Amino acid sequence: MDSEIINDAEDIKIYPEEFESTLIADLADNINHGICVSNLTYLTALKMGLDESVCYDLAVAGLVHDIGKLKLSRYLYGRAHDSFAMENIKYMRMHSKLSYDILQYYDFSPFILQSVLYHHENYDGTGYPENLKGDDIPFGARVMRVADTFTALISDRPYRKAFDIDTAMEILIDEIENYDMEVFIAFQKVIHEPETLDVINKSRLIIDFDFDIL
Ligand SMILES: [Fe+2]
Repeated sequence: MDSEIINDAEDIKIYPEEFESTLIADLADNINHGICVSNLTYLTALKMGLDESVCYDLAVAGLVHDIGKLKLSRYLYGRAHDSFAMENIKYMRMHSKLSYDILQYYDFSPFILQSVLYHHENYDGTGYPENLKGDDIPFGARVMRVADTFTALISDRPYRKAFDIDTAMEILIDEIENYDMEVFIAFQKVIHEPETLDVINKSRLIIDFDFDIL
């Protein structure tokens, strides 16, 4: 899989300094997105009355679920403004499997690995990587699906500004067939709690990698 990406990427001119800034921006986005998904996934699981250990595992899964996207930075370099295709091209759809492939080398629990691998599966069977449907989708991945989509909607993208929270919730409702209803209802309760806004805002770190290492 990697060699295919690298072969395709050979057509793209890489300018080292620009590419480094792309990598840094991707890493910063990945960290901030992971923190927010982690927090919202944890709160949703807590709201559903799950054991603390399950909530904790979901928080970990939320933090690292998109790590595979960093392997795609080189391929996607220079295409950030190709707005329509950006999140739909076939390579982007590899990222959940790439995340899984990276994490399985470490001592993450099967529950965390499954949550990561299937976090883009839709409840109606239209997601990826395996078009799993309904309760065939591992539970952790069903929780992540809602928090992940919401977090993406309330974040700036190269081709659009962030949606506000109410609009993001409306968009989720428009796509309700993608989500486990029990999870969605718990998530909705979490979002309507006043302290959640504070959690979301604290997830938006300004990450400055421009420092000297002694
Ligand atoms: Fe993802």
